[in-house]
Amino acid sequence: MKYIVTGGAGFIGSHIAEALAERHEVVVIDDFSTGHPENLRGFDVTLVEGSVADLPLLKETFAGADGVFHEAAIASVPKSVADPLATHEANLTGTLNVLLAARDAGVRKVVFASSSAVYGESPELPKREGMLPEPLSPYAVSKLAGEHYAASFSRLYGLHAACLRYFNVFGPRQDPSSPYSGVISIFADRILAGEPITIYGDGEQTRDFVYVADVVRANLRAMEGNVEGVFNIACGRTTTLNALAETMMRAAGRTVEVRHAEARAGDIRHSCADITRARETLGWTPAWGLEEGLARTIQAADPQRV
Ligand code: UD1
Repeated sequence: MKYIVTGGAGFIGSHIAEALAERHEVVVIDDFSTGHPENLRGFDVTLVEGSVADLPLLKETFAGADGVFHEAAIASVPKSVADPLATHEANLTGTLNVLLAARDAGVRKVVFASSSAVYGESPELPKREGMLPEPLSPYAVSKLAGEHYAASFSRLYGLHAACLRYFNVFGPRQDPSSPYSGVISIFADRILAGEPITIYGDGEQTRDFVYVADVVRANLRAMEGNVEGVFNIACGRTTTLNALAETMMRAAGRTVEVRHAEARAGDIRHSCADITRARETLGWTPAWGLEEGLARTIQAADPQRV
């Protein structure tokens, strides 16, 4: 089979490409806006440098492909607040381009990386796919609208599409270099360097962390058969930031100073997924516990220092 991974040089995309490359022909499209070619070092994939904004390039690259994993995006809520148009172009026009190119190339299925951000501030927990979405940020709007485009292309043109609402994904290759990077990548980097970590707010906010290997398995399941629709991809368990910090220090075998700063504007308080639909429809269940995943992440962040 030939599979395309957009954003395949990024954190999640590179793990999907790596898993596929064992058995399939894989073409990665990435503009290296946040991805790095080193993320693909050692894997047998074809790398096409380019953006999902480039429809002719997508059409050319998708020829003969069986499926597309669409991970390319500006994956930052604060960036979308600062520049909604850039997020719209990369995330929504980009997704429409991917769907158009997939349709025209006769691709069987697109699996789209959506986000738990689509649920917004609704206090009801756990989040179920049937709840009314309340997207707040332009990022969340772009992901929700992408889901709707995918469903529309299924109905109108027979292009199969499944959308995965990722919760807080973590694991090796998540880039800690931006202040908006995932909290686990930042904490791993600081703890290994023996530097203080900062918890925003009282640290009692919760997140549903899911290890990247489980996210990869969910993608592979979603690509199988004709399964369509939206699916929460998470562990279905919550962890407070305070507990996370402690668990990570234990896993790294070192303690660093924990500083507290004001809660981040726009931060949601609690996040937890109901993953029944993914279990029942995709036959997927997360296999990695938080502690195991953290140990692997810390080991990969700097094997010399552990
Ligand atoms: C995450 C996703 C976002 C998605 C959203 C959906 C990442 C990077 N972002 O945002 O794409 O739309 O879920 O709900 O995965 N924190 C600290 N100290 C730090 C960094 C963060 O205390 O140094 C706190 C934050 O204030 C927040 C929590 O850790 O309460 C998680 O933050 P973060 O990893 O940035 O993810 P989300 O904001 O949940």
